[in-house]
Amino acid sequence: MSPGVSVAAGLKTGDVHHNKEDFMADSFKIDFQPHGAVETGDLVVFVGEDLKPSDAVARQIGPEAVDLIAKAAAAETFKGKAKSSMSIVVPAGLSVDRLIVIGLGGEKDRAGLDFVQLGGLVAGKANGKVATVALDLPGVEITPDAVADIALGAQLRRYSFDRYKTKKDDNGPDAGRLVLSVSDPAAVKKIYKAREGLQQGVVLARDLVNEPPNVLGPEEFAARAQALTKLGVEVEILDDKAMRKLGMQALLGVAQGSVRGGRVAIMRWNGGKPGDSPISFIGKGVVFDSGGISIKPGAGMEDMKGDMAGAACVVGLMHALASRKAKANVVGAIGLVENMPDGNAQRPGDIVTTMSGQTIEIINTDAEGRLVLADVLWYVQDRFKPKFMIDLATLTGAILVALAQEYAGLFSNDDELAERLTAAGKATGERVWRMPLGPEFDKMIESKFADMKNSAGRFGGSSTAAALLQRFVNDVPWAHLDIAGTAMGSPATEINKGWSSGWGVRLLDRLVRDHYEA
Ligand code: BES
Ligand code: MN
Ligand code: ZN
Repeated sequence: MSPGVSVAAGLKTGDVHHNKEDFMADSFKIDFQPHGAVETGDLVVFVGEDLKPSDAVARQIGPEAVDLIAKAAAAETFKGKAKSSMSIVVPAGLSVDRLIVIGLGGEKDRAGLDFVQLGGLVAGKANGKVATVALDLPGVEITPDAVADIALGAQLRRYSFDRYKTKKDDNGPDAGRLVLSVSDPAAVKKIYKAREGLQQGVVLARDLVNEPPNVLGPEEFAARAQALTKLGVEVEILDDKAMRKLGMQALLGVAQGSVRGGRVAIMRWNGGKPGDSPISFIGKGVVFDSGGISIKPGAGMEDMKGDMAGAACVVGLMHALASRKAKANVVGAIGLVENMPDGNAQRPGDIVTTMSGQTIEIINTDAEGRLVLADVLWYVQDRFKPKFMIDLATLTGAILVALAQEYAGLFSNDDELAERLTAAGKATGERVWRMPLGPEFDKMIESKFADMKNSAGRFGGSSTAAALLQRFVNDVPWAHLDIAGTAMGSPATEINKGWSSGWGVRLLDRLVRDHYEA
């Protein structure tokens, strides 16, 4: 359909209606209370490989229950290994329904304990009406920060995208609640507030990726970014006309095959010193990638609704940073388009002039993400002179060939930024692996007819894509994260049972927290 043809009245694309409040999935109910007696529901305790809970918990449940754990463990061949668990139903001598025993493993496991994952494990096991979790662990120090991470993990574990199911998920956020018993509830509550913003940011990113593409076109996506104004984020939306004026013809070339116009959303959180140059995050937001005229095969094409995961991550991150009032000046910018075949669609052979003035020959209309990012990256460095730019994009299938779904590909012109991202990846479990850039790859994108071409074939496919992006960053410290493998359909973990992972929100929140807040 060409843009001149209007959509039949009453059948506007994306015209499924939601209330504002419906946009955000419910949170799972978590309370904090001081250590003490537990009367009803489930009780969760932790043991090492010696099958013993901490001294305080042993005193609380009494010697009989401690003995019962050892006996049940023998019967169940439960050895207290990390990530293992057993539950004892109506345990004699205790008033609770179930005693859930979670293993912490040996010394090494405990030293490297990931509290977010642990929280996920707990929320997966404690699926009754109410579960009290005795957060006093043998051989592990539990700081208020650790408790907040456990609560975050529990929340993410209970995430469920069932908006379009008439029968709701029975282990979702509405199923029961958790009571975390801790030594200092007041201190924990304060820190948890900030983690709650992060949790909502991850949930927001997941929701955006899970939403069907008929509901979430570029315009609707931009409206979700606009909703961040209620957190104090300044949001500007560029429509086709504004982009034409700026000369963003690479982005517009992709958008022109769709009846739904493109958008760029610019989000600004100014929590740092006035006048300090911002840090910036840029996201690929292809709301649906059919491949365009170089159309993709049918099998699995529905997954290409998730080709906006980079943009979703940036929106989720801005939500997290604004919610916790991060002391940093941050720009988020996302390029939103739909890549469709159409009589008006861009063709292989077309040459587009980017906002930077450089020209690109289109070899393959399915290599569209780099075209979108070329203009948004240029725009951000030109307008904001940022300290750095980090872009996230479900950019290439080749990154899945190289790194499976375990690591995101990291490409950077700046070693310090690359090292910081790698460290944040280790700390959060959202890991990145550095991949090469360089003149060899840059040479591969030379074109017979234009300054460069948008596809150089299969060899080094992720690096040649990154090489094109690099031509639009103008010496600003920059990192590109290829998240085609990690953002969606990745293997289930204790904190992610769904299709979209919300990958990158925790990673980048951590990066900002560790290095860029005054
Ligand atoms: N959105 C895809 C990449 C992708 C693949 C994301 C699998 C998530 C899962 C991207 O736009 C694309 O189509 N890339 C092509 C580039 C090629 C035509 C040079 C690819 O990777 O095949
Ligand atoms: Mn594509
Ligand atoms: Zn794509």
